[in-house]
Amino acid sequence: TGSEQNKAPGSIAGSLSMTDRSNIRQPLWLLAELTYACPLQCPYCSNPMDFAKIKSELTTAQWVDVFKQARAMGATQLGLSGGEPLARPDIIELITEARNMGFYTNLITSGIGLNEDRAKAFKEAGLDHIQVSFQASSEDLNNLIAGTNAFQHKIDMARAVKAAGYPMVLCFVTHRQNIDQIDEILDLAINLDADYVELATTQFYGWAMHNRDQLLPMKEQLERAEAIAHEYQEKQKGNMKIYYVVPDYYEVRPKACMNGWGNVFLTITPDGTALPCHAARQLPGMALPNIRDYSIDEIWNGSTDFNRFRGYEWMKEPCRSCSEKTKDFGGCRCQAYMLTGDPAAADPVCDKSPHHHLISEAIQRGRDEANKSAGDAKPLVFRNPKNSKAISGL
Ligand code: FES
Repeated sequence: TGSEQNKAPGSIAGSLSMTDRSNIRQPLWLLAELTYACPLQCPYCSNPMDFAKIKSELTTAQWVDVFKQARAMGATQLGLSGGEPLARPDIIELITEARNMGFYTNLITSGIGLNEDRAKAFKEAGLDHIQVSFQASSEDLNNLIAGTNAFQHKIDMARAVKAAGYPMVLCFVTHRQNIDQIDEILDLAINLDADYVELATTQFYGWAMHNRDQLLPMKEQLERAEAIAHEYQEKQKGNMKIYYVVPDYYEVRPKACMNGWGNVFLTITPDGTALPCHAARQLPGMALPNIRDYSIDEIWNGSTDFNRFRGYEWMKEPCRSCSEKTKDFGGCRCQAYMLTGDPAAADPVCDKSPHHHLISEAIQRGRDEANKSAGDAKPLVFRNPKNSKAISGL
């Protein structure tokens, strides 16, 4: 099982000197992936494709202990996510405990499992922030992508969140199938009286990577979407804040993923594995320490996993001698691994990477796929337990 693997001797380096430790910052952001259970089946989900293998979720007491340890180490932001975090029956208790410890608490939800009473109860428990995600601006497309009839409930819940006194934060993950709706998406947000809208182009991890040919937007789609988003940004100034997250596949420099490995972010997965980012479980050679076996201090400061890509020593060329390495840290380790097979390679998004052609090829494959007739197009693989079991050979 995963947790037995995690107990492998030597998975924690353990003996860092105080000088080494002085270069390590605090984990400011704790992402608690409370569960992989989710009523939706989005084909762009960043959860691992073999999530069906993960059987034992942390208990309430174990989560509270995680919060306590991370808070003691200086963490201030807590993201409660999943899967769908509302699938956890103890969600109110977790919010209450986290809030009492002084965390700024964010609930990242599809809205399924929410109702007006729960939204009010979360407010009473001190929850600071709820982000509701939508799959599209039209009922048909939303439900098609979500794999379930979720649209109307999401609309109702967005209103309930606002009525409960939260700032309304909507998130739309955009991709080739919905990005042409960008104006309708923004009109819907205006209509719902949103305070913030995040338009985030799909990042290709987990299920999204598997479905990349069907999800990668084309350049002309992005250009149109960006122009419209900017128009709305101008028009909505002082009203609704629109964040447009640019897709890295169309950039020439990589994103500073996670703000640097082991620098700010700490992710705890539903079974208690501690990761420097949500996608790191897939990297070869990871020890995958579990909070059931080690303290968060030991993991953050002493584990081989968290120290693996800290600083600059691990870098190869062209990153090693690049003047921009302190800005982007060589990009994303998981993307480097998924595309080149080497997690220490430069992120191929960078046009200095010898693997940059892999990005242009992926873009071309997406375009070829988009040009296929409906009958020939590859079907999207939806994120659900059945597909996960099939992929994991369970
Ligand atoms: Fe893992 Fe970028 S997602 S380092």
